[in-house]
Amino acid sequence: MTVCRDCCCGNALKHPAIDHDAQLDRLREVLAPAHRVRTSQCLDVCAEANVMVVHPTPAARRQGAAPVWFGLVLSDAVENDLVTWVHAGGPGVAEVPPMLELSVIPAPGR
Ligand code: FES
Repeated sequence: MTVCRDCCCGNALKHPAIDHDAQLDRLREVLAPAHRVRTSQCLDVCAEANVMVVHPTPAARRQGAAPVWFGLVLSDAVENDLVTWVHAGGPGVAEVPPMLELSVIPAPGR
């Protein structure tokens, strides 16, 4: 998973009610060791901060699965749904649950 952390995502000035460091720590803790969580510089969809991208497993990618982008990941509910979906297999393996589907955003350039 890629977690955007730059000018807007992870910025306490933009979303002061969110403990962004704690969010990142939680994701790393609950997804390890099966899934790696890395941070990125701005992914060019700042209006959707906090942005996260879930990448397919190599096997799923070989079957044509693509990364899925999520925006406005600002609540425990969305974060928990995201984690559950990643544990279920993520892109190309598990359907995105309907509630989580509301947080899916198009990848830039699509
Ligand atoms: S800082 Fe995350 S999209 Fe710009």
